[in-house]
Amino acid sequence: MSKQMFVILNFKAYSAFEGARAVNAVKLAASIPARGYSIICCPPASVLSECVKSAGGNTLVFAQSADAVEPGKHTGKTTLEQLKSIGVKGLLVNHSENRISFNQIIFLLNRAGKLGLKTVLCARNLSEVRKFSSLRPWAVAFEPPQLIGGRVSVSSAKPSVIADGVKAVGGKCLFLAGAGVNSREDLTASKKLGASGVLIASAFSKAADKKKFLRTLLV
Ligand code: G3P
Repeated sequence: MSKQMFVILNFKAYSAFEGARAVNAVKLAASIPARGYSIICCPPASVLSECVKSAGGNTLVFAQSADAVEPGKHTGKTTLEQLKSIGVKGLLVNHSENRISFNQIIFLLNRAGKLGLKTVLCARNLSEVRKFSSLRPWAVAFEPPQLIGGRVSVSSAKPSVIADGVKAVGGKCLFLAGAGVNSREDLTASKKLGASGVLIASAFSKAADKKKFLRTLLV
């Protein structure tokens, strides 16, 4: 049986996903009959709660980040406990555009583990992939920073790093790849190289017809 692939749709702070548009995108993802794929949407913090209510089927909602603090005296912070309380199932940690310290990474992984939240720990090179996988997150996501937001995908520009990443992780956690991913061919190639999934942001945000984009990608 072919293995389940995870497709993480990171909404970032794109205006295409402000307010109700993020909620609609989650509803759309949940309506796609994507056999063999699990879709994980990462909406902005401002609409997480509504997005969680709109998920379902094969679609989950993760946060784009959390702050490495316990509940308490921390103005402006988002705790893991807050995410858990609204039904978020996991989060991105240390995304290339939102890097945090190693101690903060450890804090978030430990606490998320206790709360039953899945963690996607982002790495920007192979040595980080190796180091981070030994921390046993749910998944390590490798995204070459120079390809993020472009039209050239990691699976076409740097296929060998996907295979090397899979090897570096050595089955300790899932291995995901991202940056420039925009087509079904990218998904197929990533899968063939051993990845358990991909992360996509700009291609989805820019797609004028988001339903068509997801259907072409996944159905
Ligand atoms: O988190 C996913 C992301 O960084 C990849 O971005 O725009 O290259 O698909 P993009």
